[in-house]
Formats: sequence, structure tokens, C-alpha cells
Amino acid sequence: MWAKALILSSVVGAVSVLGEGPMCGCEHRYGVLMEFYDSTNGPSWGNPVSSVQGWNTSISCNQSWTGVFCTRGDVYMIVLDGLRVNGPFPSILANLTALLELKMPNNQITGTLPPSFNLLKQLYLLDVQYNAISGTLPSEWSSFDSLTTLWAFSNSITGTLPPAWSAMKNLQILDLSFNSLIGILPPEWSQMSSLHVLTLSKNALSGTLPATWSILVKLETLQLQNNGFSGTLPSDWCSLSSMRALDLSLNSFEGRFVVKCTLRGQICHFWKL
Ligand SMILES: *[C@@H]1O[C@H](CO)[C@@H](O)[C@H](O)[C@H]1NC(C)=O
Ligand SMILES: *[C@@H]1O[C@H](CO)[C@@H](O)[C@H](O)[C@H]1NC(C)=O
Ligand SMILES: *[C@@H]1O[C@H](CO)[C@@H](O)[C@H](O)[C@H]1NC(C)=O
Repeated sequence: MWAKALILSSVVGAVSVLGEGPMCGCEHRYGVLMEFYDSTNGPSWGNPVSSVQGWNTSISCNQSWTGVFCTRGDVYMIVLDGLRVNGPFPSILANLTALLELKMPNNQITGTLPPSFNLLKQLYLLDVQYNAISGTLPSEWSSFDSLTTLWAFSNSITGTLPPAWSAMKNLQILDLSFNSLIGILPPEWSQMSSLHVLTLSKNALSGTLPATWSILVKLETLQLQNNGFSGTLPSDWCSLSSMRALDLSLNSFEGRFVVKCTLRGQICHFWKL
């Protein structure tokens, strides 16, 4: 215990020398950051209420760069919200191997989600809501083990939900609503055992609700409204014991149905009139 405390304090000492200013210690990432900046029209970033500072390799590392968080000698977070970041998805950011969070909502990012992001072994939050991303969901992300939250709603993503994503055992929140996804709910996704929130509303998904999903016992919110689903609610879904919000509206389900379940010791009904 004592020895451990000593080791920790010497590490902290070294770190504080490394990071004297906001970007000091992260100079080895300037190449990647500037490649990102140049490919997304960096000189025009900004909005009427916030201008962008830094993003210039000639200034002292003591000055900060808008949206870049550097500590312990690496970039661990990038936050560029509504700053007119404009261009193809910056796959170069897959080189920032210490990234924990990447948030670029409300921009004009185009192109596809980069398969190579599965190399980011620390990244747990990716927020690209409200952009112009197209193309399909990369099946390579089945090995994107660190990811717990993906907000990619309000883009133009096409194609199907990759069955291989069933390997994403740590994914808790997945919001792909307001895209152009087609195809079925993959029965294999019953293996996504951490899933809490799944939002797929306003796509062009179809097929029936997979009975296999009844083992997603952590699922609290499932939003499937405004798609082309048909059939009925599988009675097995009564074992979705964490479910709090299930929205099936604006689909093509068969007539009326009422499913009687016992959840948390109480009788309840799922119904569609
Ligand atoms: C990004 O990583 C690739 C593969 O490791 C490397 O070849 C490339 O030089 C890196 N790019 C930059 C700008 O560091
Ligand atoms: C970068 O900083 C240097 C030194 O302060 C300055 O001369 C140069 O104009 C800056 N470049 C841009 C693109 O702002
Ligand atoms: C950054 O600022 C600190 C404290 O103000 C100073 O000690 C250090 O020399 C500066 N480093 C550089 C590279 O300018």
C-alpha cells in the first residue's frame, strides 16, 4: 500500500512537468490535429458567438486550442459543437489512441463512419449527432470494445444494422434515429448484454420484432416508432424486466394486440389499439 502510494506520487510529479500549459506534452499530436483541421475547412470553423483559438503549431504550447483537451502527454478529449466543422469524417483521428471522448455534434461532417475507429481502445463516447454522415455502419466496429455510447442520430446513414455488432458487449446507449437505415432488427443483437437505450425511430427498418431480444434484461428504452415493422409483440418480451419506455407507434403491426406481462411483480399490458 505504502509502496504503491510512493509510485503514484512520482508518476504525478512527472506528469505535471509534462503538461505545463494546455497543449504542452501533446506536441507529438500536432501532425494529426492539423491534418484534421485542414481536411475539415479549419480556417472557417467558428460561429457568431465563439471564435476558434489555437490550432497553430507555431504558437506556444501554453496556449489552448479550442476543443482539444491534453493531459498526461496526450489528447484525451475533443469537443467541437456547432462550429461548422465541414468535410469528410476525419478518420485521421483514429491515430489519437488515448481519446476517451469525441464530440462533434451539429456540424457538417460528411462521408462515412471510419472502420478504423475500432483501433481507439479507450474511446467510450462518440457523439456525431446532427451532421451529414452517409454510407453504412462499419461491421468492423464489432471489435470496438470500449464504446459505451454512440449518438449518430440525424444523419444520412444507409444500409442495415450489422449483425456483427452483437459483439459490442459494452455498448449501453445507441441512438441511430433519423437516418435511412433499412432491413431487420438482427436477432443476434440479443447478445448486446449492456444495452440500456436503443433508439431507431424514423428510419425505414422492417420485419418482425425478434423473440431472441427477450434476454436484453438491461434494456430500459426502446424506440422503434416511425419505421415499417410488422407482426406482433412476442410474448417472450415479457422478460424484458428493465423496460420503462417502449414506443412502437407509426409502424405496420397487425391489427390490435394486447400482451399481458408481469414486470417487477406487477401485471401490465403492452397493447396496440
Ligand atoms: C497515423 O497512423 C498511421 C498508422 O500508424 C501512420 O502511418 C501515419 O503516419 C499517422 N499519421 C500522422 C499524421 O501521424
Ligand atoms: C500562427 O502563429 C504565428 C505566431 O504567432 C503567426 O505568425 C501566424 O500568423 C499564425 N498562423 C495562423 C494561420 O494564424
Ligand atoms: C508555460 O507556462 C509556465 C507557467 O506560466 C512556464 O513555467 C513555462 O515555462 C511555460 N512553457 C512554455 C513552453 O512556454
